[in-house]
Amino acid sequence: MAKSALTIRLLIVFVVQTIFVCLITFPLQPYTCNVFAEETPYYIGNRKCRLCHFEYFKEWEKDPHANAFTRLGRMQNNPYCLKCHTTGYRGPQGFVSEKITPELRGVQCEACHGPGSRHKDNPHNKGALPIGRKIDYETVCIKCHDRNWTPEFDYEKYRKRIEHRIAPKSNGGGSLR
Ligand code: HEC
Ligand code: HEC
Ligand code: HEC
Ligand code: HEC
Repeated sequence: MAKSALTIRLLIVFVVQTIFVCLITFPLQPYTCNVFAEETPYYIGNRKCRLCHFEYFKEWEKDPHANAFTRLGRMQNNPYCLKCHTTGYRGPQGFVSEKITPELRGVQCEACHGPGSRHKDNPHNKGALPIGRKIDYETVCIKCHDRNWTPEFDYEKYRKRIEHRIAPKSNGGGSLR
């Protein structure tokens, strides 16, 4: 009797201790203690999206957003410009420079849909994509399409020009610009 009570007590001490150690050292070793925190999503780049969203990717390639980085010309190192002409600038594993992160040039999928690392591993989890279907996309657009750069921005009009719902392709291009 006394013995098993002691065992239980020791067990409790052990569990509590483990939790404490985990919490305290968590900032140092997020991966061993990830029971406590879901990984924050980070940017993975278009190539990964292409694997599963090939048709969408094809549409995006024709979109002016795909050329947004090239457009900068000699300003490709200007932090002010990079904010709106690349993907995830200064975000988690987002664009840094053309040398370090060439795969994140331009305004890619994740610039509008949010960093996709969790979605990639778990595509059917509706909560995995930071910017899923429920978000008001207009607020996303006007972070870049501000009054300076797009004085005549009209969400409905602009939204139609980047349409990438795959369905109506047969009717002569449909709404695709
Ligand atoms: C492993 C395959 C896979 C990869 C990689 C992938 N997706 Fe998806 N994605 C899916 C599937 C499957 C769905 C449909 C999920 C459903 O309806 O249950 C989906 C749905 C979506 C949706 C609609 C979500 C919603 O809330 O309606 C968006 C937006 C999206 N993906 C964007 C992306 C982006 C951006 C990337 C790259 C960062 C990406 N996907 C990479 C498989 C993938
Ligand atoms: C706040 C976001 C933002 C910043 C910062 C920004 N741009 Fe842009 N840029 C845009 C948007 C949005 C468009 C698309 C405008 C449109 O056609 O509606 C654009 C378009 C352009 C174009 C296409 C031609 C045009 O004027 O329409 C060039 C070139 C360009 N930007 C260069 C630059 C350079 C160089 C910098 C840095 C000095 C810069 N941008 C900074 C958002 C930005
Ligand atoms: C300029 C912003 C922008 C970019 C870039 C972009 N999307 Fe979207 N995407 C949207 C908007 C806006 C919607 C429509 C959301 C709504 O109102 O339902 C959407 C919808 C979707 C959907 C859901 C379609 C459906 O039938 O409901 C998927 C999947 C998707 N995008 C994937 C991608 C992928 C993959 C890429 C890159 C190849 C990409 N998007 C690039 C803005 C963007
Ligand atoms: C990360 C910044 C960013 C976001 C977010 C963004 N855009 Fe853009 N967009 C740009 C830039 C930069 C250009 C200019 C590309 C070029 O011309 O090289 C552009 C160009 C465009 C164009 C082409 C304009 C023209 O004159 O032909 C359309 C349409 C557009 N965006 C729609 C949207 C919509 C709709 C959304 C939101 C769903 C959105 N964009 C979100 C940066 C952004």
